[in-house]
Amino acid sequence: MDRVLANRPAITYSSLGGAVIAQQVFQSSGGSEAFMQGGAPASSFGPASAGGFLFGHVLAAVEAPAPRGPSVYLSSRGNSILQHQGILQEGFAQYGLNKHHDSNNPDGILNLGTSENKLCFDLLHTRLTKPDMLHVDPSMLQYPDWTGHAFLREEVAKFLTHYCCSPKPLKADNVVVMNGCGSLFSCIAAVICDPEDAVLIPTPFYGVITEDLHLYSNVKLFHVPLDCEVGDSRPFHLTVEKLEEALKSAKEQGVIIRAIILMNPHNPLADVYTIKEMVAFLNFAKRHELHAIVDEVYMLTVFDESVTFHSVLSIDRYCRIADFAMAGVRIGTLYTENTDLVQALAQLGAFHGIPGTTQYQVAQLLQDREWISKEFLPKNRQRLKAAHTYLTGELRSMGIPFLDSSAALYVWADFRKYLRESSFEEELALWRRFLKHKVLLSCGQAFSCSTPGWFRIVFAAQQHHLQLGQFVEHQSLHIMLGLLYSSCTPTLLLSTNLC
Ligand SMILES: Cc1ncc(COP(=O)(O)O)c(C=O)c1O
Repeated sequence: MDRVLANRPAITYSSLGGAVIAQQVFQSSGGSEAFMQGGAPASSFGPASAGGFLFGHVLAAVEAPAPRGPSVYLSSRGNSILQHQGILQEGFAQYGLNKHHDSNNPDGILNLGTSENKLCFDLLHTRLTKPDMLHVDPSMLQYPDWTGHAFLREEVAKFLTHYCCSPKPLKADNVVVMNGCGSLFSCIAAVICDPEDAVLIPTPFYGVITEDLHLYSNVKLFHVPLDCEVGDSRPFHLTVEKLEEALKSAKEQGVIIRAIILMNPHNPLADVYTIKEMVAFLNFAKRHELHAIVDEVYMLTVFDESVTFHSVLSIDRYCRIADFAMAGVRIGTLYTENTDLVQALAQLGAFHGIPGTTQYQVAQLLQDREWISKEFLPKNRQRLKAAHTYLTGELRSMGIPFLDSSAALYVWADFRKYLRESSFEEELALWRRFLKHKVLLSCGQAFSCSTPGWFRIVFAAQQHHLQLGQFVEHQSLHIMLGLLYSSCTPTLLLSTNLC
């Protein structure tokens, strides 16, 4: 990744902080919600414009990778893993082959698709290269406790107690540390579900969780579709009624649901739930004896002071998981008061360990409250806010509607008017078109969105990259406009004119 290029002023690193929160609610007793469409009134949400043959053109012009056949060297499970290739993986693989670099590869692909914070490398680099980070003692070179070194779990517990406003001190024994939240999701699924069991998840959602649950353990996701309909004042809004409906439908289909996954702040919607909403969702889980897994990876990326994030750790007597979202450092942490879960995860922890020296560095970072609270967090929020303001201003000026939120690293934008008809083939064609013009975005179907035409744009990138990305976006849309001009009616041309 870009982060190895140490001579550049500001490059890749995800922000510190965040939590995936796991709950076994039945054992316990206990944002910006404004929707805004680039200045347009919410009621203007409607079906995508219908169209002629342009996208036949576009589809033909943009190549999908050829499907690969089964390998004789692999088991049928191995083959199913080999052949599992989602859109996110395809985009990231193409980006890997041709990464943009300001001087070495200025015509390479700009990645506005992967959720990483590229705005704080300078701060993290300065802190991570201070002398206190260079320490090795024998325990770091020996096999550790498979839930993580005690010194790290203690710092995680203190960190979460403070930043999640827990009413009581959290315990190091309830913390499990693994190499990333993906590993945690995978291991939790393995120990709370049997093969073919399912976990409820509202759609759209961060799509990689499908693989996290499925690849090793054959656990499925049962979707709770959140829609965006004409006149919605809050599209993609999760309610307890929708959860109840999905659970009923799973039961009717004979699917065993073991858990629910909630994300707060949400990926890709960037929604922040109110405490009332979160308690209602947790009560739903408790009522139906489901584990609740709350992913709070983006908890420290709320960049508007008027929005209050409430961690489930602030709600007394619930239990939870956490991740520190420096993506390349590969650390994810779980907080749960379910001791059976902790012990079962410890068995799998041997496959998902983190080097002792890295655990030490992260512990040093977490205990430096002065640096986190006075330097890193304020600067991170300020930079996120500036980047968000810039991108949303550009979207507004281009007349592209989006969900207005003040958290996370991305904007969920509505490109439905650029689809000639409302279909996922057309959405994929537009996605490929962007990629062909060297801009990687994430399209809604990669997040199982039920309405075609939505894209996630990551804004936590340096402004000149956003500008370049926007320029290329313009270019790619202009190319489509060119095609439109030669083949379609002037009305349609006007409705897609970005200039
Ligand atoms: C909401 C959410 N959860 C989990 C993850 C996975 O985190 P990790 O990189 O630690 O596996 C991501 C990564 O983007 C994410 O956005």
